[in-house]
Amino acid sequence: MHLGWFTNYLTPSWNREFSGRAADTWLSGDFHVNLARRLEEARFDYLLLEDSSYVSNAYGSSFDLELQAMARAPKNDPMPLAAAIARETSRLGVVVTGNTTFYPPFLMARLIRTLDHLSRGRTGWNVVTGAPNQALANFGLKNPDLRDGESAHDLRYDMADEFVDLVVQLWESWEADAVVADRAEDRYIDASKVHTVDFEGKWYSSRGPLNSPPSPQYRPVICQAGGSTRGRAFASKWADTIVALPKGVDQMRDYVREVRQGLEDAGRDPASCKVLFIVTPTVGETDADAIALRERQFARRSERARQRLALMSGGDVDYSATPLDEPLPAIPTQGQSISAEFLRRHAGKRFEDALVDDQTESVELVGSPVTVAEQMVDTLEQTGGDGYLFYSGSGQLTMRYVDEVVDGVVPLLQRWGQARSEYTSTTLAGHLAEP
Ligand SMILES: Cc1cc2nc3c(=O)[nH]c(=O)nc-3n(C[C@H](O)[C@H](O)[C@H](O)COP(=O)(O)O)c2cc1C
Repeated sequence: MHLGWFTNYLTPSWNREFSGRAADTWLSGDFHVNLARRLEEARFDYLLLEDSSYVSNAYGSSFDLELQAMARAPKNDPMPLAAAIARETSRLGVVVTGNTTFYPPFLMARLIRTLDHLSRGRTGWNVVTGAPNQALANFGLKNPDLRDGESAHDLRYDMADEFVDLVVQLWESWEADAVVADRAEDRYIDASKVHTVDFEGKWYSSRGPLNSPPSPQYRPVICQAGGSTRGRAFASKWADTIVALPKGVDQMRDYVREVRQGLEDAGRDPASCKVLFIVTPTVGETDADAIALRERQFARRSERARQRLALMSGGDVDYSATPLDEPLPAIPTQGQSISAEFLRRHAGKRFEDALVDDQTESVELVGSPVTVAEQMVDTLEQTGGDGYLFYSGSGQLTMRYVDEVVDGVVPLLQRWGQARSEYTSTTLAGHLAEP
């Protein structure tokens, strides 16, 4: 099975029993470099660095909830962090989020390719399109004009299709063997192998060529995160790995089936894109310990609800008028599938209970390391997925939790032949190409 870890360049757990010195070490990148080293020791495929670039005041027109919960801020830019991690590791893949709404395609192509050089072929680009008004305002942008019957959400994916097409063409504007470094002839580049792209799209255009030469992967890995029908169509065209959050075994199985079908329809090998599900296992020395720990975590209901509420309030919906202790009404959404989905899943529950229940995990894994590892194996067998992306909620990550997973659960998976014990490749594409 393929293993990833999902985090962001955001404050980890900083003021709890096992926070350690995270409050003092995260800004310099040391905390995340340490995390990456641990994942590499455990032979993970990749570390995925999330991103967003705004501080939301959607909730009650105030920054209070956002900043108290530290759901999206303080956060730094993950691109330089990816470079730092790349220099401190040698095998781990580093997937960095780049939003198609906020970058010009040329800069994105150059940035990702440069990272692929710095990491010697271990870079992935997590292509996201999300653009709440809260974020657009920081860039002087407005939601794009809508065509008849189309949501801004789908339109952004149409634009992303064109964006990625252009980025890939820019990567390919240098033939793979354009750098000849011929000392005898004193010629570094074979200019006949570098071409313009002359891209004229509906939304983007670029002459090219890129000014960055071919990198070890030539075409760095493309990752997609998201679950909508349009998002899946985008992924079947472009993605080498998908990180997904379908809820429960049935949804997970359907999701994998649809992704594989989409790949086939796009003329691709259905095994060429690795689907990883998000999980946050609760691990104890015994099953009883783990169950008790999970109960203690969930006993902090208002804290968990506040955290979830802050995350949900990143969109443009103001939930402040919705009382936490009353059953959920139909909250209007603005084409944001996560909110519509939330309502469908939790209709009739008290809002606070819905928030607490709505954890970021595809399947609940609770138990001793053996129990959790067995649950992981069983769930993949039942769903046909390719692996897992571990995640610990925003502001809750501790190195102790990382150790529980990488020292507790992963060695069992390795002993059972379910996860790799050694890398067989030096590139991220190579890790993902393993069965
Ligand atoms: C594991 C995972 C990671 C994500 N990371 C980011 C991110 O870093 N930045 C971002 O703007 N959106 C991120 N998203 C949100 C997705 O890009 C997408 O907007 C959301 O899942 C809704 O998907 P859909 O629009 O296809 O329905 C992530 C989603 C998932 C499931």
